[in-house]
Amino acid sequence: MTDVDPPPQSFKTIMKKPILPLAALPAMLSLCLMTMPARAADGPPTIRPGEKWEDNRGQHVQAHGGGILKLGDTYYWFGEDRTQGLPQDKRYVACYSSTDLAHWTFRNQVVAISDPENLGRGWVLERPKVFYSAPTKKFVMYAHIDDGPYKFARVGVLVCDTVDGDYKYVKSFRPLDHESRDIGQFIDDDGTAYLIFEDRPYGFRIAKLAADYMSIEKEMCLIPKHMEGGAVVHYNGLYYAIGSALTGWRPNPNRFATATNLAGPWSEFKNIAPPESNTYGSQSTMMLKVTGTKTTTVIFMGDLWRPQSQWDSRYLWMPLQIGDDKLTLPEPKPWKLDIKTGEATVEN
Ligand code: GAL
Repeated sequence: MTDVDPPPQSFKTIMKKPILPLAALPAMLSLCLMTMPARAADGPPTIRPGEKWEDNRGQHVQAHGGGILKLGDTYYWFGEDRTQGLPQDKRYVACYSSTDLAHWTFRNQVVAISDPENLGRGWVLERPKVFYSAPTKKFVMYAHIDDGPYKFARVGVLVCDTVDGDYKYVKSFRPLDHESRDIGQFIDDDGTAYLIFEDRPYGFRIAKLAADYMSIEKEMCLIPKHMEGGAVVHYNGLYYAIGSALTGWRPNPNRFATATNLAGPWSEFKNIAPPESNTYGSQSTMMLKVTGTKTTTVIFMGDLWRPQSQWDSRYLWMPLQIGDDKLTLPEPKPWKLDIKTGEATVEN
């Protein structure tokens, strides 16, 4: 389902009865311009980590533990919809779109399903990630499916013919027959799609999806570290993997490692931020590479969880300092991204 434009109205219909004298129009117009959000003419809009991010309806964006799929010039952000007051027997995923990564348009609540595996009260659908399979022209969503005690440990697969339609639940499975809890997605520069998943007994796995994205083709590597919120980016010839420690909703120092090949060997893991900051209170969910005409920016996308009021959980997105085997998450501050040039500017 997409936003539907209202039917066009003629000027006559709108202006049936002039509400204000025409002389007031110039003053009205300048007032409108002053109160409008910053658009292209004023330079790129500001991204404010930790603040309430409102969508086009003025509602806080519900895309927790999310992921981004880019189609043409449009970014689609999918994530857990934890809107307060939704019926508790179902789980929800929302989808938003943007062309500047700052203004988000609500597209649809693309998932609203009841317990598809009979897991009982407290069942879990978390960290949805959507891939587009060109051969089948299907949008394929992976999510962590679990029971209340997190023992089921599988991925769920949902499918849709359009990016923001209603996704239908197809199946669940254990990738490569291993336990799978937090998942991440990675699409390499050549378009190959990978699933990242946390396998509690062994560590952190990266697996290549089959061509139709409905199953796993092969394992790329097992990184024998216990890490959640897994994310990978390919930047300047190196793969960077990040993840958090296993502390539930509580933040911890997220860490990164590098490799020249996805199959490894991977370097030792190092902190991405001062460890006492616990990743500035956030947990990784994805790294997004924005390649512009002048430069490439890699965005750290993290969740600032509020477990007692999940609907109010916030987002920490910052441009990473990345390159030459190093990756640092700078202290969160308001920043701007020029989506055309790829340049990010952080406020002083
Ligand atoms: C976190 C995980 C979240 C959620 C939470 C539940 O470690 O990253 O996605 O599963 O635990 O406690």
